[in-house]
Amino acid sequence: MTFLFHSDATRGAIFRHVFASALPDLPFAMDAASVDPDAVRYLITWTVPADIGRYRNLEILFSIGAGVDQFHIDAVPEHVQVVRMVEDGIVRMMQEYVTMAVLALHRQLPAYLAQQATHSWKSLAQPQAHERRIGVLGLGQLGQAVLERLKPFSFPLSGWSRSQRQIEGVTCHHGAAGLDALLASTDILICLLPLTDETRGFLNADLFARLPRGASLIHAGRGPQLNENDLLAALEHGHLSGAVIDVTDPEPLPPGHPFWQHPKIILTPHVASVTQPETAARAVIDNIRRHRIGLAPIGLVDRRRGY
Ligand code: NAP
Ligand code: GLV
Repeated sequence: MTFLFHSDATRGAIFRHVFASALPDLPFAMDAASVDPDAVRYLITWTVPADIGRYRNLEILFSIGAGVDQFHIDAVPEHVQVVRMVEDGIVRMMQEYVTMAVLALHRQLPAYLAQQATHSWKSLAQPQAHERRIGVLGLGQLGQAVLERLKPFSFPLSGWSRSQRQIEGVTCHHGAAGLDALLASTDILICLLPLTDETRGFLNADLFARLPRGASLIHAGRGPQLNENDLLAALEHGHLSGAVIDVTDPEPLPPGHPFWQHPKIILTPHVASVTQPETAARAVIDNIRRHRIGLAPIGLVDRRRGY
């Protein structure tokens, strides 16, 4: 019975170290070529290896990231459980990133950066936090954690999910019927949805039109959820006032893409949160222990929903 780590060597070395002390009875391998494929019960990777079929006894396929859209789950044998990464490091980094982005948009940083570039010393009218409504698309692990971190600022907080949720201090909406209400009462929209057939292209002209004029966007979900031309048009017409974009399609963003130079866009290269190997290894070990005693792993993906 072997655990196969199929990702970068730096993180792998940390995983190996944590596994050796916490789960010494489970052989840990990083070299797929030298491992007995029949011994591999657990595999962690970012993308599904083309030869996944050789691991005939594979029981759990772990994603090294929070998202699993890159797996194309249909290619994973039906009997294999697919598990996304749920670990404190990813959560903490996403809380930091979204807080940074919300405060940057709330305090009009893009406009002040543009003024700095033209040596303009001019104060802008500043709405107060209780007047700036935040709406989060996706109330899962990350959406909820982000909302929790934003609570002390006194922004009115709302969120939207597929199923009904109750979160203290947050107005929760759900399903297609709840989306209009969320959008109509949102000044800063944060996307933390997984990429599925339903969310591909979701951030588009129709959705932007349902936001109040002057609203802004923080996109930290997945690039293909955003119609980039629709965002550019909404910024151009002033319906949206700014955006903080962490994910694009494709990645890296190609040279010459309008996002690079756009004065109303703050762009980061898919770094909102990054799996932290020490805490991630512990989360995976906990899941292997759960699996061994017949419990479902935390972060088990529902193949039907796609997340
Ligand atoms: P999660 O725990 O699975 O939560 C997903 C949330 O989205 C749930 O609340 C779910 O609703 C909601 N949702 C999914 N499809 C929906 C739909 N069609 N309509 C309405 N709501 C829908 O996921 P997570 O751990 O929070 O992560 C979210 C995503 O963040 C990841 O999938 C990944 O794409 C992205 N991410 C990005 C970075 C980055 O660095 N930029 C890092 C990590 C993750 P229910 O609650 O009803 O199920
Ligand atoms: C990063 O985007 C992740 O899915 O963890």
